[in-house]
Amino acid sequence: MNLVSNDISADFPDSDKIYLNNASVSLMPNQSIEAMKEFLISYNSIGPDSKESELFVTEKLRNVRKIIAKIISCQPDEVVLTQSTTDGINIVANGLSFDEKSNMIIRGMTHEHHSNFYPWLKLQEKISVKNLPIDKDGFFKPEDLESLIDDNTKLVALSHALYNTGSILPLEEISKTLHDVPLFVDSAQTVGCIDVDVSKINCNFMSFNGSKWLCGPMGTGLFYCNRKSSELLEPKTIGGESAIIYDDINLAFKELPDKFQTGFRNYVGVVGLESSANYLLNFGLKNIRKKNQYLSILLREELSKIPKIILYGPEDPNSRTSIVSFNIEGMDSQEVVDRLEKQNIILALREIMEKKIVRASPHFFNSESQIMSVVDAIKKL
Ligand SMILES: Cc1ncc(COP(=O)(O)O)c(C=O)c1O
Repeated sequence: MNLVSNDISADFPDSDKIYLNNASVSLMPNQSIEAMKEFLISYNSIGPDSKESELFVTEKLRNVRKIIAKIISCQPDEVVLTQSTTDGINIVANGLSFDEKSNMIIRGMTHEHHSNFYPWLKLQEKISVKNLPIDKDGFFKPEDLESLIDDNTKLVALSHALYNTGSILPLEEISKTLHDVPLFVDSAQTVGCIDVDVSKINCNFMSFNGSKWLCGPMGTGLFYCNRKSSELLEPKTIGGESAIIYDDINLAFKELPDKFQTGFRNYVGVVGLESSANYLLNFGLKNIRKKNQYLSILLREELSKIPKIILYGPEDPNSRTSIVSFNIEGMDSQEVVDRLEKQNIILALREIMEKKIVRASPHFFNSESQIMSVVDAIKKL
């Protein structure tokens, strides 16, 4: 379907707001809200902990793994259900084994989202954490990465796209320079808005959530663990769901995905996420990307015509997601966000290193007329 010429706003709850903060939390389609409601009713009517509900819930878990595996091109048992992107990052940060000579490589320090920075920074207590030099948009040179790698490098951790500039790192190319050093990818800003294929990126671990570009509910996270690479990680949490006991006192972790899942899962969230993932796949991620590019190009072009607007992030639309970050010269970024919110326009305050910026992040259900209304409102600030 051509999403540029089709209005799909009726698929989402009625609202008098223009919501352009999808890089933080996206809207959920009506069908997902309905699916969650129906699930809760069925689940409660058959008895939440009964033989029948066990089968019912097992099927829901299987379905969501299948559809997420389809989206990122992996096997369903390589999809671990977590609560957030941060959860998956911590599984890797706390699960790898290190010695005193070990080191790892990150990109950008404070240019990175806190969730993909603090867990690695914490590792400085045990190992050396090397930082890649970056340009203003957050890109680095693959040869700089290659030169930081040595025999003691245990991990390279990168975001697929950056939360502040929207820059998309060319991971397929970058992963070729890694010489078998494990790669962790934070794809919170890409899964659901661009095609992500773990086999092409060639990463060992990846983490993202359901509530950003996948349009699913809050509290749903996904951790991709390559089957072979699972051996590199020792879970730091353990429970009845993730391990078995043998010879009365010995414990063994179960196979993927159970190995990393302690306690019951967020079943209602899983149902909503499956429905949203299906909704997205019906349009196709290529069409979604096309629409998002259309909206962000329009927004950047229109903003660039306004005097005093400073735009950030790559010019090339193929090197960025739909995130459009900007400032208005002489105006506080927080004030811009607050004044627009009073007019029912939702953007976000973010930062590029120490500089505060305004971030707009349209998704495929936003319309050209919404973008033009936002531009008009910005002109009048
Ligand atoms: C790149 C990146 N990583 C991690 C996160 C944190 O995600 P979660 O709240 O799912 O842990 C975000 C959220 O904005 C993000 O943009």
